[in-house]
Amino acid sequence: MVKPIFIRNASQLVTLQGSSHAPLVKEAMSELGIIENGSVWIESGVICAVGKDEVLFEKYKERLGEVEVVDASGKLVTPGLVDPHTHLVFAGSRENEFNMRLQGATYMEIMNSGGGIHATTRRTKTASHEELFKESFERLNQFLRHGVTTVEAKSGYGMEWETELKQLEVAKLLNEKHVIDIVPTFMGAHAVPKEYKENPDVFVDLLIDEMIPKVAEMELAEFNDVFCEHGVFTPEQSRRILEAGKRHGLIPKIHADEIEPYEGAELAAEVGAISADHLLRASEKGMKAMAEKGVVGVLLPGTAYFLMAESANGRKMIDLGVPVALSTDCNPGSSPTVSLPFIMNLGCLKMGMTPAEVITAATINAAHAINRGREIGSLEVGKKADITIFNVDNYMKLQYSYGVNHTHTVVKSGKVVVK
Ligand code: NIG
Ligand code: FE
Repeated sequence: MVKPIFIRNASQLVTLQGSSHAPLVKEAMSELGIIENGSVWIESGVICAVGKDEVLFEKYKERLGEVEVVDASGKLVTPGLVDPHTHLVFAGSRENEFNMRLQGATYMEIMNSGGGIHATTRRTKTASHEELFKESFERLNQFLRHGVTTVEAKSGYGMEWETELKQLEVAKLLNEKHVIDIVPTFMGAHAVPKEYKENPDVFVDLLIDEMIPKVAEMELAEFNDVFCEHGVFTPEQSRRILEAGKRHGLIPKIHADEIEPYEGAELAAEVGAISADHLLRASEKGMKAMAEKGVVGVLLPGTAYFLMAESANGRKMIDLGVPVALSTDCNPGSSPTVSLPFIMNLGCLKMGMTPAEVITAATINAAHAINRGREIGSLEVGKKADITIFNVDNYMKLQYSYGVNHTHTVVKSGKVVVK
């Protein structure tokens, strides 16, 4: 029997109450539902009470002997951070390409000359299940130490069945063996393999006729993602791939308008994607279409930073009513980081978001971007007890004092896993 946990007397407790049914937009993104001197009572992995410390103390004082008390005085308590876009399962690293880019090569040039995604694909193909598991498990440990309790994970470093399957199987095993929850996405449409370069539609047919049906049948993924980009998959090919996924119960996601404007945001709205991600070059029309359909904009300012590009216009998207979420995009080529708090800092400094908005974007809106808004992302009675305690006394300081890992304690599914 796991003991109940009583987190007591946080200087600020960010609840984000009332946000479970839909992602927050516009002004509501700033309504953190803060309780000062706030406490949380957790039992059997679930949040049972949230409120002022004095109120919870009165309610539970007879039971103090049977609980694990976590003193949060002088600290900030938030929902466990949620990372809704990662390429978690991969082998190797690409610091050589980083060096090439610093000397002027571009991301697309490197990819088109056989490096980039193709380089990681070669490494991932030859890695064993055990090697992939070990590397990814260590990354998850680092995520956890940065306060992240749920991570979406995409395949896409195979682009042929065996390796895509290997990545998704490893993601499944990680979900079972690591305390972090993993939410799997199929991304066979991550790049066009070189043997299909002359006939990309043949590869698209292969995805549609063979891989997507198998992924769905084997229940290996919940989402289907595509890299819709000049020189990768066209909007028309992307539409076909995403519609095929829908027919098999896979919810569409899309890497949209990352490097060049390509009407990816518009396509996301048209196909009813749960999220459109990147959006550095999204058009205003596309943003408005996303706002109208409630497509979450998953912004990845770490990728823009690392590729030395201008970030997405997060401010404008929020003002237009797009529900905005934030993510690391953790991957070996365009964003080798696990620090969601650093991404939140970039959200403020590079995208004009406020410290309150970035907290919403990395918790409840991120949860909605992976269809988990009813289970996680806010501190409310009945939700899973995924909670991060930061060593700062107010939420603004989390972004103000940057480049420091402020994570102090992490509670995952009602257990203290980092302290
Ligand atoms: O989200 N843009 C495409 N995919 C990844 C990068 C993957 C890689 O370079 O290995 C992204 O940025
Ligand atoms: Fe990505």
